[in-house]
This record gives sequence, C-alpha cells and structure tokens, in this order.
Amino acid sequence: MLNRLFSALFIVLLQQSVLGVRQTCNFCHELSTYNYVITAATMPYTFLNGCSIRMGGESCLIEIQIDLDNQTSTLNVSLSKEYVETSIRLISGIENGLKHTRSITFWCSDPDGNCNSINYLKRVLESVSFDGSFKELDPLLIPTNQTIDNSSCVVYSNTTTTECQSGCHDDNKACYIESLTNVEKSFDICARCSSMDDYYLTHSMTYFINDTSVSQSDKRILSCAIPQCNTVENLERIDQLVKISFDAKTFFDTSTTTIMPQTTTTTMTGGSISWIHDFSKSYTVFVLLMTSFFYNIY
Ligand SMILES: *[C@@H]1O[C@H](CO)[C@@H](O)[C@H](O)[C@H]1NC(C)=O
Ligand SMILES: *[C@@H]1O[C@H](CO)[C@@H](O)[C@H](O)[C@H]1NC(C)=O
Ligand SMILES: *[C@@H]1O[C@H](CO)[C@@H](O)[C@H](O)[C@H]1NC(C)=O
Ligand SMILES: *[C@@H]1O[C@H](CO)[C@@H](O)[C@H](O)[C@H]1NC(C)=O
Repeated sequence: MLNRLFSALFIVLLQQSVLGVRQTCNFCHELSTYNYVITAATMPYTFLNGCSIRMGGESCLIEIQIDLDNQTSTLNVSLSKEYVETSIRLISGIENGLKHTRSITFWCSDPDGNCNSINYLKRVLESVSFDGSFKELDPLLIPTNQTIDNSSCVVYSNTTTTECQSGCHDDNKACYIESLTNVEKSFDICARCSSMDDYYLTHSMTYFINDTSVSQSDKRILSCAIPQCNTVENLERIDQLVKISFDAKTFFDTSTTTIMPQTTTTTMTGGSISWIHDFSKSYTVFVLLMTSFFYNIY
C-alpha cells in the first residue's frame, strides 16, 4: 500500500521536476496598470515586484493591453494550463464603441522555468512595432440612417477552413468580412451579413517562434455599419493604415538584450527569483531522497 503510494508520488515528482512536463512561471495576482503606452523605451522594469512563481503551467505568458484613447496599458503576467506554441501575437484594432486598442501577447515554454521574464519581455518589445492609425476607418463603424437590410452586404466566401454562412436575413445589422492568411500563405475570405449590432475591426498578427525560424499568420476582421462596407479593399486598408511588424533578427540577437539597467529593484527581483528557483530544485531532490528512503524501509 505505502509502496504504491510512494511509487506514485515518485512518478509525479519525476514528471514535474526532472522530465519538465510542467514548468514554473512568473505569476502576478493582479493586473498592473500604467498611465502610459508600454514600449521598449518605456518598459516598466519593476513589473514583477510583488509577484510570485507558480507551478503547473504548460506555457507562461505576458499580455499587454493598450488603450490608445486614454494612453494607458495593463499587464497580465500569468500561465496557461494548456500548451500554447511559443509565439507573439500583435493585435491592433477598433473595439465596439470606437475604442482604439492594441495588444501584445507572448507565450513561452522553458523547462528551466519562469520564461515570462523581464528579459523576455524586453526582447519582445524591442522587436515589435505598430505604426499608423485606424482613425480614418471610424466612419465605417458608426451606424447612419442608411439602413442595412438583407441585400446590403457583400456575400462571398472562398474559405476552406471555416464555415461561412451565406444567407442574409431581415434582422441584419452589420456587414462582416474576415480574412485569414495562415502559415501556408493561402488567403481565405468570408464576407457575409451579421445580425449582431457590434461594429469593430481587428488586425491580428501571430508570429510562431521555432528555435531560430519564424512563421506567421494574419487575421483581419471588419464588422461594419455602412452598406457594402465589407469589401476586400477595406481589408487591405486595415493592413495599410496600421503597419504591424516583428523583427526576428532583433528578437534572436541576444547580445543586445543582456544589457539591463542596474537598478536596485531589478537586481533584487532577479536575485530573489533565482533563489526561490534554486530552493525549489533542492527541495525536490530532498523530497525524492526522503521518498526513496521510506521506500527502502517498508
Ligand atoms: C490573464 O491571462 C490569463 C491567461 O490568458 C487569463 O486566464 C486571465 O483571466 C487573465 N487575467 C485577467 C485579470 O484578465
Ligand atoms: C440621412 O441623414 C442626413 C443628415 O442627417 C440627411 O441629410 C440625409 O438626407 C438622410 N438620408 C436619408 C436617406 O434619409
Ligand atoms: C429580404 O427582405 C425583403 C423585404 O423585407 C423580403 O421580401 C425578401 O424575401 C428578403 N429576402 C431574403 C433572401 O430573406
Ligand atoms: C480568395 O479570394 C481573394 C479575393 O478575391 C483572393 O485574393 C484569394 O487568393 C482567394 N483565396 C483562395 C484560397 O482562393
């Protein structure tokens, strides 16, 4: 009975610590809010202060949400129970209610743990950029007295991957178009009517990071209020007005990323993290030794 219990415990510990199936991540219980737009130049180096290290994640992540109208940013440092490919997602858009927003999210996995770190965030921020504004597309998202009816929208699809509904009904409130250009570079389009009265646009670029190579996918959505607004031309304008980019060369160039401002706070944070990390490693070894000790007695 006890033998079995300890064998089970042993296997669980072996899986978690030695084989690295699960890992530790930096984890902040609360979102941090900053009254400026976070970029490489304004990166808050103390964002891990007051945060802890949590086990049991498959991937670690940091998500930055930026409100361009109020010039504020929020930072979510967390972990994902499901495995997410190491990737960086950059989204630029106008949310329902004409809110101009951006977000930068990255997921990473590393058996050594705590990859959602200050250094990693710095590398991400240094290699990404957004340039331009969607302001001139605002009018497409504001309902007018031109009613949208069942013949107001472009209806077209050549997508093979997702369903694209083709019928338009009388309760039509918006015209909708989305495109997906995936890793295989096929450009799929779905243009249809929508019965939802939410008007927004988003451009989402995801960069999948594979050791030293990068592949990308590009997704755009426009849900607009003006008859015939859901055109491929308007999807092109989404791409042209705000240039989103990721510079893989800067990202992989670790020589520029090891330089860190030597403030007391960052040194302390780094120090305490590695201390906890070392401690958790030796603690695991201790438990393993104790386990085999008891195992031998019984
Ligand atoms: C932070 O991100 C995690 C993972 O995506 C999510 O589950 C969580 O809800 C987010 N936290 C907040 C407060 O939004
Ligand atoms: C829509 O409203 C504008 C200004 O409010 C007016 O000039 C125009 O005639 C209206 N169009 C229709 C089709 O009612
Ligand atoms: C579109 O709306 C008109 C008027 O409400 C109706 O006569 C027509 O049958 C509708 N067509 C479709 C395809 O629903
Ligand atoms: C779908 O349509 C768009 C616009 O006409 C075109 O550029 C694209 O190549 C098409 N994609 C496929 C998979 O046929």
